[in-house]
Amino acid sequence: MEVTRLSFALGAEVTGIDVSDIDAATYDVIHEAFLEHQILVFCDQDLTPQQQIKFSEHYGEVEVHLAKDHLHPETDKVILISNKRVDGRYIGAVSAGDYWHSDLSCQAQPNLASFLLARELPAEGGDTGFCNQYAALETLPDDLRQQIEGRNGIHTFNRMRNPRVKVPEMHKGDAKMRYADRAPPDGIHPIIRTHPETGRKALYVAHRFTVGIENMPDEESRPILDAIFEHQLNDELIYRHKWQLGDMIMWDNRCTTHHAYGGIPAGQIRHMHRTSLIGDVPF
Ligand SMILES: [Fe+2]
Repeated sequence: MEVTRLSFALGAEVTGIDVSDIDAATYDVIHEAFLEHQILVFCDQDLTPQQQIKFSEHYGEVEVHLAKDHLHPETDKVILISNKRVDGRYIGAVSAGDYWHSDLSCQAQPNLASFLLARELPAEGGDTGFCNQYAALETLPDDLRQQIEGRNGIHTFNRMRNPRVKVPEMHKGDAKMRYADRAPPDGIHPIIRTHPETGRKALYVAHRFTVGIENMPDEESRPILDAIFEHQLNDELIYRHKWQLGDMIMWDNRCTTHHAYGGIPAGQIRHMHRTSLIGDVPF
């Protein structure tokens, strides 16, 4: 097994292993690399849903995603991120990742880690960006940091309450059901969170879910959040992954954010299997 750094910002590529067939010592080596590099790209993985679940479960409890209409037909522990249609219906989440986010930061217990496996890819487009939130915090201007120190962010699943994001065209009809009626209560989390395993501090706000700062009027929080989101777009904080078939990326939602760049030509398919782990309450 070889672990090779992928970019200045974060990430490492792991080659020479089949994650469906590893021993306890290797699981530990992977865990160390995961904490150090924040995202790991495992190349050439041909995993069944059950094998992906088994690998994921070694690092925590797999969560059944709240978007029940996008679950894998064989197992509710895998969600499909896909633009494939069967009988006219999209079988997976199409707009997942269209804005920067940490997975389900809108929940009281957001996801610890996620695992995304590329099963079908378009000829172009479909890249995923990952942003290092330790570095985002460390490079944040002092005046901005002072304004968020000790504060909590408000995170919502409801796109209709977030002026920075759009409701995708395909969900215009069912937006209230999808984003309001079945939305969990807002997640209220420290804007600067402490990683429970490394002890390092990271920024924990992003475009898709963060809509405000607790106990602060919107007129005051809006420019602060805008400035942070702008800062998080700095190229030096980001690794942009071009997927190959069989890549499986494992990312740490406690210290990274990610974003699907889109740009998939009409008629081309991008079909991915995702598992996520239940995380703890951010502090
Ligand atoms: Fe995501």
